Amino acid sequence: MADTVKILGIAGSLRKESYNKWALRAAQLLAPEHIKVDTFDIAGIPLFNQDDEHHPAPRVVEFKKAIQAADAILLVTPEYNYSIPGVLKNAIDSASRPYGESAWSGKPVAIMGASVGNFGTARAQYHLRQTFIFLNMYPVNQPEVMIGNSSQKFDQEGNLIDEVTANLIKQLLQSLADLTLKLRT
Ligand code: FNR
Repeated sequence: MADTVKILGIAGSLRKESYNKWALRAAQLLAPEHIKVDTFDIAGIPLFNQDDEHHPAPRVVEFKKAIQAADAILLVTPEYNYSIPGVLKNAIDSASRPYGESAWSGKPVAIMGASVGNFGTARAQYHLRQTFIFLNMYPVNQPEVMIGNSSQKFDQEGNLIDEVTANLIKQLLQSLADLTLKLRT
C-alpha cells in the first residue's frame, strides 16, 4: 500500500532483558496495520575508528542498508550517566560516515526510552535531539515518550502492562508515520 510506513526500530541497550528492547517489542505489537516496525540489533557493530571509515565492517554495511531501506527511524534508548549510551552513539556515528555518505540524512526519527529512574531517559533524549541537527534528521517533537520507573511498567516476561505508556507509544508511531508521509510529498 502506498501509505504504508516502514520504520526501523533500534534499541540502545545490548542487555538481554532490556526494558528498552521490551519497549521496542511493545511498539511492534502496538503498531497499526499501515505501520511496520522492523528492528536492527546493534550488537556486533565494532567501535568506530575513522581510519577504517572507507572500509566499514560488514555489520556496519548491513546497518546502513537497513537504515536506507527504512522510511523512518525509531530509537529506543536507555539513559547512561545522563546521556546517550556509548553503544548507541557508536552505532549512530558508524552509520554517519564517511562524510557525505551518512545513512541518516533526511530520515524522519522518533525517540522513546525507558529507565529505572523517575525521569525516563529525558536527558539522553535531549542529547539525541542535538545529534539530529548535524545528522540532518527530522525528529517528531511530540509526544515525548519517557518511561520512568520501568520495573513497574513491564511484567516478568517483558510485556508492557501500563496503559498510559501503551497509548503514548501508539501516538508516537502515528506522529512518526504522519511526519514521514508529509515529508514524502
Ligand atoms: C544507568 N541507569 C541510569 N538511569 C537513569 O535514569 N539515568 C542515568 O543517568 C542512568 N545512568 C546509568 C549508567 C549506566 C552505566 C548504567 C548501566 C545504568 C540505570 C538504567 O536506567 C537501567 O540500567 C536500565 O535498566 C537500562 O536500560 P535497559 O538496559 O534495561 O534497556
